[in-house]
Amino acid sequence: MSMETKAFTWLFHFLLLLMVGRASVVAGARGKPVIFDVRNFGARADGRSDDSKALLEAWKAACGSSGVVKIVIPAGTYLVGPTKFKGPCKNVLSLKVHLQGILKATTSLDQYRSAKWVEFGWVKRLILVGGTFDGQGAASWPFNKCPKQKNCKVLPTSILFVNNNNTVVRGITSVNSKFFHIGILRCRNFNGSNIKIIAPANSPNTDGIHLERNTGVTLSRLSIGTGDDCVSVGHGNTDVTITGVKCGPGHGISVGSLGKYNGEQDVTGLVVKNCVIRGTTNGVRIKTWENSPSATIATNLTFENIVMKNVDKPILIDQQYCPYHKCDSSAPSQVKISNIKFKNISGTTNYPEAVTLRCSQGLPCKDVSLQDVSLKYVGGKNSFSTEHKTTLTSTCINVKPTFMGIQNPPPCL
Ligand SMILES: *[C@@H]1O[C@H](CO)[C@@H](O)[C@H](O)[C@H]1NC(C)=O
Ligand SMILES: *[C@@H]1O[C@H](CO)[C@@H](O)[C@H](O)[C@H]1NC(C)=O
Ligand SMILES: *[C@@H]1O[C@H](CO)[C@@H](O)[C@H](O)[C@H]1NC(C)=O
Ligand SMILES: *[C@@H]1O[C@H](CO)[C@@H](O)[C@H](O)[C@H]1NC(C)=O
Repeated sequence: MSMETKAFTWLFHFLLLLMVGRASVVAGARGKPVIFDVRNFGARADGRSDDSKALLEAWKAACGSSGVVKIVIPAGTYLVGPTKFKGPCKNVLSLKVHLQGILKATTSLDQYRSAKWVEFGWVKRLILVGGTFDGQGAASWPFNKCPKQKNCKVLPTSILFVNNNNTVVRGITSVNSKFFHIGILRCRNFNGSNIKIIAPANSPNTDGIHLERNTGVTLSRLSIGTGDDCVSVGHGNTDVTITGVKCGPGHGISVGSLGKYNGEQDVTGLVVKNCVIRGTTNGVRIKTWENSPSATIATNLTFENIVMKNVDKPILIDQQYCPYHKCDSSAPSQVKISNIKFKNISGTTNYPEAVTLRCSQGLPCKDVSLQDVSLKYVGGKNSFSTEHKTTLTSTCINVKPTFMGIQNPPPCL
């Protein structure tokens, strides 16, 4: 490109920007989106130059404009370091981010001072559609000590939504996060659908979607294969619906872990429905720590229409949760579990003990019911015969569940 052409291209983009900027007031208010293309803000999309600044500039322009606004990130690979897309966007009615390309995380861990990569925070009516977030986690997994130590340095979550209202996330893909793939924190009305999550079975703490302190979350049509929980519903969540999840490999769909930290809040109102869980260590589980520093409750949780395929522990309440070699167990868990329904759960299990309800000695579980649980033993990977007709068993400690309909394993009473 000659100097003249370069200058002309630059001038052209500059004028275009000016025009678009002006158009925003009119078009945005009319409901037709004003478009901010990250290429006009200097994004290179060559997969090597750091495009963080360009993306941030596009966000600032969009967030500072008004009406219905759209940021377009065209096809291509964008190398991006820790980036915070922050509101409030005062005059913006809705802000759509259309990711057509791939965001690729930088790998140098000293860049990530707080434990997140791409963050969307303090915005209302954010719509994030399409595209791939590649956390390039393989380089940092060896530095993760969290599977072995309680006080460990937490690595960055790939995509974090924090303090947003009325968020829609649709059709995104997350691969090889350094730590959690997606974190949803202190959001109200969050709707995620058609989300794909991919990481190896042995990648540490790569939870698919982790929720904390939210009200009103709907997640549907998720395909999650990862190294930890497919979805983990942490403390402080109210009114959460999770449907149509294909989970595996991974550790299943979990509530918890709860009772690890001081100041945790209750979990109230969860439906997990119409899911297929395949080749995971757990199916559906509630996990709480002993020696919990704060007393909380987990109530009104329903797990319904779940198909298990070669799952180690399909149905599990574990109030002596300890992911390490040994945990402090001088006091029973202070998380009070009640009104739990397991309904229409079928499929196959790798171990004979298919149902384990190990509740707190200090606070027995209340109102736990199992309805139409029909599981079949197929043996694990180390099993010598799949025809081995082992009878399934269930264990119930500090809980007297009610049983309805079919029960295999047979009731534990
Ligand atoms: C979200 O809604 C809550 C409650 O109405 C409000 O306090 C908060 O400021 C809102 N946040 C945003 C980013 O709009
Ligand atoms: C969430 O989004 C999906 C897909 O766009 C839609 O079908 C569904 O109705 C939405 N759910 C809620 C509760 O808004
Ligand atoms: C139980 O949770 C569901 C799902 O969040 C909610 O619709 C329902 O109202 C809750 N029931 C009670 C009694 O709180
Ligand atoms: C039980 O769950 C399976 C698998 O999700 C579903 O196909 C079936 O319709 C459910 N049965 C009832 C009675 O809801």
